[in-house]
Amino acid sequence: MQPLISRAIKTLSGNVEVPGDKSISHRSAIFGLLCVGETKITHMLESEDVLNSLHAARALGALVDKIDDQWIIKGACNGALLEPDHRLDFGNSGTGCRLFMGLLGTYDFPSTFIGDASLSSRPMNRILDPLQLFGTQILAQQRDGRLPITIRGPEFAAPIKYRVPMASAQVKSAVLLAGLNAPGITQVVEPVMTRDHTEKMLAGFGANIEINTDKYGARSIELEGQCVLNGCDIHVPGDPSSAAFLIVAGLIVPDSRITVRNVLMNPTRTGLITTLLEMDANIEIMDQRLSGGEELADLVVNSSELKGVTVPGERSASMIDEYPILAVAAAFADGKTTMLDVGELRVKESDRLRAVADGLGANGVDFVEGEDFLIINGNPGNSGMGGGFVKTHHDHRIAMSFLIMGMATEKPVTVDDGNIIATSFPQFLQLIEELGADIGQTST
Ligand code: S3P
Repeated sequence: MQPLISRAIKTLSGNVEVPGDKSISHRSAIFGLLCVGETKITHMLESEDVLNSLHAARALGALVDKIDDQWIIKGACNGALLEPDHRLDFGNSGTGCRLFMGLLGTYDFPSTFIGDASLSSRPMNRILDPLQLFGTQILAQQRDGRLPITIRGPEFAAPIKYRVPMASAQVKSAVLLAGLNAPGITQVVEPVMTRDHTEKMLAGFGANIEINTDKYGARSIELEGQCVLNGCDIHVPGDPSSAAFLIVAGLIVPDSRITVRNVLMNPTRTGLITTLLEMDANIEIMDQRLSGGEELADLVVNSSELKGVTVPGERSASMIDEYPILAVAAAFADGKTTMLDVGELRVKESDRLRAVADGLGANGVDFVEGEDFLIINGNPGNSGMGGGFVKTHHDHRIAMSFLIMGMATEKPVTVDDGNIIATSFPQFLQLIEELGADIGQTST
């Protein structure tokens, strides 16, 4: 654990690019593994989480290499993955673990999944439940569906129809990936649209996939299993969930103007931008364009006087990872910010509702925490804010959010561990310091 302290600064300025999107990077490793031929990936996120997915791809038969700035994956082919000869360790990553668990759920060999303390406390029944419908056996698990877990797929998997009970792109993706090794059509219905990178990449790699949305907004995705997936070239767009930290820093530090280039603007990921604009944030969305089937833009962020808003529950899927940093923005806003239907935050890398509330409290911010909502009473004058010691609970987004907070509070903010940031955004400190942050190591 490396405690870090973040002190107030006068201004932020500069022009930066954030690393590749984490969700697309994980999926690039998976589709590279599943393809026939080669998948070449540039601007891949090289964080601990994604490196663990690349290790898993190797263990299942892919040849993974890096030449200059390009990752090259020679696939093992859908339906022909190899039995891993060791336990698959996903470290801190729920996405890596759950997507690979889905994928291997229809292979007739045992595979064991392990992770760090945070991942080992997260619920996996949301993946095991649909897998059991395919015929997957759970050979070992810790109490109530926690890691370590060993599964074995059936000799002959049957395709399934599954309605995802919560808004979760991980569960949707796990079922679709399991369906890839089952004959016939696997159908997944999601009541609320979540990030659609798996569907887009399935189509891009040549799978037969059909998507329909009903009048209530429920999406049905039908995938034909046992297909051939062909290698592709992928350029991973900048991660909007990483850009979020820089954007909020630019808004709350006075006299700032920063540009974040090449940010993914897929509408299933832009809920934070929508919310910040409603809060009167001065964010210019420049040069909106399409690249490799995804929307991108450059974002110019200027310091702003924010106002509190109510964030509707329907928006939560499109900004699920951004609530901790939104809470920081809300702490500096005029009035009350209400975040509704955010119960899923309780099963992220930490209980994020609790961790955010505790961090706000430690830094003199007034809030009300409910079982699935959070209300923050902003303090635009910033008087007395800061000075707290924040426990990150192995959660990278808690660490980054409160370091950003310290850039604009009266007193410095300390987080108990900066090392965990490397799971998703290893360049965070370097980039934020390039823009003008004052973050240093401390022993307390
Ligand atoms: C992700 C889905 C989300 C998100 C996670 C990445 C993905 O999780 O929080 O960081 O890449 O599919 P849920 O599916 O649990 O909402």
